[in-house]
Amino acid sequence: MKIKWLGHATFEIQTGNKHVFIDPFITENPKSPIKLDDITDADLICVTHDHFDHLGDTITLSKNTGAPVACIFELGMHLQEKGVKVEAMNKGSFTKINDILVSLTLAQHSSQFGNPVGILLNIENKMVYHAGDTSLFKDMELIRDLYQPDVAMLPIGGYYTMGPKEAALAVSFIKPKIVIPIHYGTFPILEQSPDSFIKEAEKISPDTKIMILEIGETVTI
Ligand code: NI
Ligand code: MN
Repeated sequence: MKIKWLGHATFEIQTGNKHVFIDPFITENPKSPIKLDDITDADLICVTHDHFDHLGDTITLSKNTGAPVACIFELGMHLQEKGVKVEAMNKGSFTKINDILVSLTLAQHSSQFGNPVGILLNIENKMVYHAGDTSLFKDMELIRDLYQPDVAMLPIGGYYTMGPKEAALAVSFIKPKIVIPIHYGTFPILEQSPDSFIKEAEKISPDTKIMILEIGETVTI
């Protein structure tokens, strides 16, 4: 699969001819490398919670492409009222949507419509865990025990989420093969560089590969 970081918490994952978006925050993202109109193909949009920097362009992108939005039930009901095609799920286990296996999982954060979540995607027999916005919580070990994530996308920017120290400990709970730090540098209030996260994580989780992506960079996994 190809994993493209579009800055902040936004990813495009391509597997075969399927395109999955997570938290498509593009138009209002000062660091976005693309414009919304650049996206012509989407098969699934996963949204972790309704804050503007995650819900982002979800409504327009879904309407433009016909891609359903997988999200927590209450947010799904809210989006459905706006004419959006939804998979209004809840946390617990995997569901196949447009041939993509997706599960919602715990995140410790806040939101207006329903609980915030993390996203698990089982693609090409690899497990991708996007933590959404969250503080550190010990049940990340349960995600490790159940699903053994190959890739974990973790917020490190602080103020709204884990900072570098907490995110480094999260890596030791999840033990992914690869960690991609996210949710930093977008706004002045967030941690601007991944350096202290790298230093902490290398110290306590030497077996995990830390992948620092440039905004707009694609990696194949
Ligand atoms: Ni948030
Ligand atoms: Mn956020």
